[in-house]
Amino acid sequence: MKKLLSIGLSLLFALGVVSALSSCSSSQTGETFEVGKNTFLLNGKPFVVKAAEIHYPRIPEPYWEQRIQSCKALGMNTICLYVFWNLHEQKPGEFDFTGNKDIAKFCRLAQKHGMYVIVRPGPYVCAEWEMGGLPWWLLKKQDVQLRTQDPYYMERVGIFMNEVGKQLADLQITRGGNIIMVQVENEYGSYGIDKPYVSAIRDMVKKAGFTDVPLFQCDWSSNFTNNALDDLLWTVNFGTGANIDEQFRKLKELRPETPLMCSEFWSGWFDHWGRKHETRDAATMVSGIKDMLDRNISFSLYMTHGGTTFGWWGGANNPAYSAMCSSYDYDAPISEAGWTTPKYFQLRDLLKQYLPDSVSLPEPPEAFPVIEIPAITEWQVAPLFANLPEPKQSENIQPMEMFDQGWGSILYRTTLTEDLSGILHIDEVHDWAQVFADGKLLGRLDRRHGEFTLPLKEALKKGTQLDILVEAMGRVNFDKSIHDRKGITKKVEVVSGDKATELKNWTVYNLPPFYDFVSKKAYKPGKAVEAPAYYRATFNLDKTGDTFLDMQTWGKGMVWVNGHAMGRFWEIGPQQTLFMPGCWLKEGENEIIVLDLKGPAEAKVVGLQKPILDMLREKAPETHRKDGQNLNLAAEKPVHSGTFAQGNGWQEVKFGAPVTGRYFCLDATSNYDGTNIAAVAEMDVLGADGKPVSRESWKIMYADSEETRSGNRTADKVFDLQESTFWQTVDNTAYPHQIVIDLGKSYQVTGFRMLPRAEAGAPGQIKDYKVYVKASDFKY
Ligand code: GLA
Ligand code: CA
Repeated sequence: MKKLLSIGLSLLFALGVVSALSSCSSSQTGETFEVGKNTFLLNGKPFVVKAAEIHYPRIPEPYWEQRIQSCKALGMNTICLYVFWNLHEQKPGEFDFTGNKDIAKFCRLAQKHGMYVIVRPGPYVCAEWEMGGLPWWLLKKQDVQLRTQDPYYMERVGIFMNEVGKQLADLQITRGGNIIMVQVENEYGSYGIDKPYVSAIRDMVKKAGFTDVPLFQCDWSSNFTNNALDDLLWTVNFGTGANIDEQFRKLKELRPETPLMCSEFWSGWFDHWGRKHETRDAATMVSGIKDMLDRNISFSLYMTHGGTTFGWWGGANNPAYSAMCSSYDYDAPISEAGWTTPKYFQLRDLLKQYLPDSVSLPEPPEAFPVIEIPAITEWQVAPLFANLPEPKQSENIQPMEMFDQGWGSILYRTTLTEDLSGILHIDEVHDWAQVFADGKLLGRLDRRHGEFTLPLKEALKKGTQLDILVEAMGRVNFDKSIHDRKGITKKVEVVSGDKATELKNWTVYNLPPFYDFVSKKAYKPGKAVEAPAYYRATFNLDKTGDTFLDMQTWGKGMVWVNGHAMGRFWEIGPQQTLFMPGCWLKEGENEIIVLDLKGPAEAKVVGLQKPILDMLREKAPETHRKDGQNLNLAAEKPVHSGTFAQGNGWQEVKFGAPVTGRYFCLDATSNYDGTNIAAVAEMDVLGADGKPVSRESWKIMYADSEETRSGNRTADKVFDLQESTFWQTVDNTAYPHQIVIDLGKSYQVTGFRMLPRAEAGAPGQIKDYKVYVKASDFKY
């Protein structure tokens, strides 16, 4: 009875919602876009949104139109875009919507080609973009609480949103433009539960003038109810391979008459430095889209063309800290350089079948010409330490933001006032540090590996000049770690036994990544050095064209060509080339500047005809099982054993009684599909209050087997916060399969949650399992 009542109520509610959502203010042009019963309505007629997500700053402005035409020729009818707040307001109150940042022009170009537009103005956008699109200067407020109703944060969001409104509100379809939908926040369910906050953002979006088209929320099927507002359209995001019925099950239950839309269908995935290049199967992607179209489900293909995260705009994930590559190729149907791919044509063949009668697809536009650039080998060199700017003084260590610097590197220098020996502790390095004593390199620390200490081989004498050069890689763009201050966040100490000596009185040099800053150095003809240095060269071209700058022989740093910041490079890969758009090259003389923080093996840049995005050279093992390791559970007693249900979606397990411990082992003993494979997308451990404990300091201690040939299926994927990525064992190693996680500290553990991988019927569904929890690590 209770159940019937609640179904009835939700039906009534859903009907009410549909009518509330579809009411839209009067149209000046007669054109409308509305939420109807089980469908969108364009000018009153059913309409399936086939949107291509592309990002204007990831495409050089002269190429925008060609990319929009490529999306059109693919069979899409809409362009979906984020607005990147931190790109437009690099200094508080100074807005820039010109050139490559002219969002109104971008929308009008789409309209010129008969494409509608979905706008996603954030304020937070994720997108593997520096700080998820939020401006770094928000972090100058010590206690700022981003993506909450923190008054300062909200005040700044309001100002930004109004500026977006000034640019785009008049381009809503009702006013003669092509904007048909506007998004409120982004995947807020993966961040928190705070309807008042999401409501406040919704109100700001409306206040900015977005009143004439449906406003929507996008989230995961597992968490969209957390913040779902009654008067907004709900959509879900998921990737290639996902079980589509399962993804929409809950949404259909709650709103049986809402049009369904996958607001982000992930065509591929993004790359991290030091991890294998990501790809997703074309046939699986196409069949997912077919499934949706056959059910009249609207979608946006994220990304249809990823492009390039130029300059310093790449983001990072955490935990474990891991910065994004500059290429945002994404294994999307249109490649980084704007080329059609086999994936493109497979999808096009499908989309051709879903066109309105009498419509046929235009041919894809021609790709831009490609050139080679012969080796550039004659450089002028400006060693970084000989070219420092005016410093600032600070008694205490402070992060970069407090010195009014947003991006680049920062040098902290102090002179020791006493002899010191022991271990140097840097709390914390964000993100990659080199430590020098009187100019001699003592060591390098990499936040990705949690390296925050450096044993001093020799005592450092009083009077030694200690230099810590810290490079900021991308600010974290997902989850609470978006409060990611750069440089050194708290303090530096030398620890010897019980004694900790905090180092003070710092001379601080800001080394921003701006062309104005890097070009004005005392460059002199010279050879490559094994130390941080800027390199400058010129090269002549008799014709321009797109090319790929091969950085294989360089260490780590950034490149500028003709004043454009091209992006980061790092020898570890997998990306080895930087996409160089021909529209930023000139006939005649061109200039290239390279900042190499390590020093190149050979100072040489060649322009290649093809990208290299899949050459990983990281020395550290990708997997977590060391040679000869074998988890020994013989002497251990399980705290729980059970059987998982078959199917997709989260499963929660409560133990009979709480246990205390820091090391958590899941021992999978059998599976449902008869293969050798075990696969887990996400795991949570439940604490004393029955809620998931923080995964911030989790570490994989052991995984008996990890598949890295066909993709990044390492064990850390069970807590990378992404439901579409998973740990998978190799197919020729038999059960049982185990994973051991160090929770970072001891907890009272009352149970755990497990999310199997998201595809229907994919191998790896664990059936029987045992759980072990211990105060100390297991024996291997
Ligand atoms: C989520 C976000 C996007 C992007 C994708 C992964 O869906 O909403 O901005 O980060 O994940 O590429
Ligand atoms: Ca995952």
